[in-house]
Amino acid sequence: MENKKEVTRRDFLKAATAAVAVGSAKPLAGAPAILASPNPNSVVHFGMIGTGTEGCTLLSFLTTIPEGRCIATCDIYPPNLKKGVETIGTNPATYTGGPTEYRRMLERKDMDAVLIATPLSMHAQMVVDALNAGKHVFVEKTMYFKEEEGNQIKKAAEANSKQVLQIGLQRRSSTLYRVGMEMIRKGALGKVMFVRAQWHRNGNWRRPVADPRYERMINWRMYKEYSGGLMAELASHQIDVANWAFGAEPLSVVATGGIDYWKDGRETCDNIEAIFEYPEGRKLLYSSILYNAHFQFNEQIMGDQGTLIITTGNGMYYHEAVHKATTGAAKENWWAGATVTQEAEQKGIPLFPEETGNAQGGFMERELLYARRWLASMGIYEYEEPHEPRWSELHNLMLSIRDGKPVVVPLEIGMADALGVIYGNRSIETGQKVVWPKKEA
Ligand SMILES: NC(=O)c1ccc[n+]([C@@H]2O[C@H](COP(=O)([O-])OP(=O)(O)OC[C@H]3O[C@@H](n4cnc5c(N)ncnc54)[C@H](O)[C@@H]3O)[C@@H](O)[C@H]2O)c1
Repeated sequence: MENKKEVTRRDFLKAATAAVAVGSAKPLAGAPAILASPNPNSVVHFGMIGTGTEGCTLLSFLTTIPEGRCIATCDIYPPNLKKGVETIGTNPATYTGGPTEYRRMLERKDMDAVLIATPLSMHAQMVVDALNAGKHVFVEKTMYFKEEEGNQIKKAAEANSKQVLQIGLQRRSSTLYRVGMEMIRKGALGKVMFVRAQWHRNGNWRRPVADPRYERMINWRMYKEYSGGLMAELASHQIDVANWAFGAEPLSVVATGGIDYWKDGRETCDNIEAIFEYPEGRKLLYSSILYNAHFQFNEQIMGDQGTLIITTGNGMYYHEAVHKATTGAAKENWWAGATVTQEAEQKGIPLFPEETGNAQGGFMERELLYARRWLASMGIYEYEEPHEPRWSELHNLMLSIRDGKPVVVPLEIGMADALGVIYGNRSIETGQKVVWPKKEA
């Protein structure tokens, strides 16, 4: 073990003060010059295909990212197109009409990139068309719908390898999740064997439809022609977290599900339950239901020395008291002095949110500051201004396109995630265990 020093609560406060203080107001060291003085000549010109709920969410974050400018928007549904134009506020050109109208937008020579936030069944064709039109591409999760589409996208990406392709799995851009994963890599959880995750809601997951002609278009999530249901819409985020935590892709999946509560004409399940098996017997146990919101959504990442319960916005770390008893370990590990261990065993250590850093604040603020400094003292966390993960993913996208910054969620991560979704659904449909094909050596 690299650092055997016992660390006390006082040590954390001392050791980490500098690291924590740095980020309070100043720009990050090493940040590109454009952050300090935006250069209008190096702004990425992009178009948005699909200005529905997610498209508009992305556009609202993009209003505060000076490295990109929206010059075009495309949507087949005029009310949504209007919302998109209003949200971004840059007076973009608009493309509407038939389902292939986006191709006319792709012909623009003044457009560097496109963002795609359309229903799942359209992702692959749009990504391939955009890459072949010479554009950088961001596509929302799930990356693709049908198994064969993975290789179609891969081929187009390889043929246009100078262009960026980024997938919208925004947890990968979350500081909180990155800290969690760094804790795993540094051994704070011991050997990570199990992830339990769920996304529970109590509601029919439907959108109101004023004109029944638009039912399938607006409620596309309910129909198998367009959607992979809960597995694609919700589990995709969490399968990716398990892949990330285990540093591997699944070997097999056994899943079930059904339309057992909301019998309203939908075709996609209102509940799914799955076990994904990873190398060395590690497993992801998953559920998503639409008839009880208890437990809501998070991932519980469990190792033989600790547990991380993590979701967007907050995380808790618990130390495994049992470990000491069963192994007879006389001393705590390098990463935790006695004080931390006691805290983490008894009530857990909250990792985030980390808003003010005011040690004079209330109980929770003090605990959060303490945890943050503990993580900083371990070299697990370097303070930076907190941002919403979607903002960070889009900011990184612009810097990848403009400055060649590494892509946060490249093709391989998106493909691994999409395959998990597709095989999970296949197991539900067939009632069989689905085994991943052997990787070519
Ligand atoms: N990353 C996340 O957390 C997150 C959250 C929500 C949705 N999403 C993803 O974003 C995507 C869109 O989801 P949504 O909730 O915004 O759906 P939505 O139905 O609200 O929006 C989709 C939009 O695409 C438009 N559209 C459909 N076909 C089109 C075509 N051929 N050309 C142009 N526009 C077309 C629709 O009219 C609609 O406005 C999905 O892949 C979904 O999984 C991601």
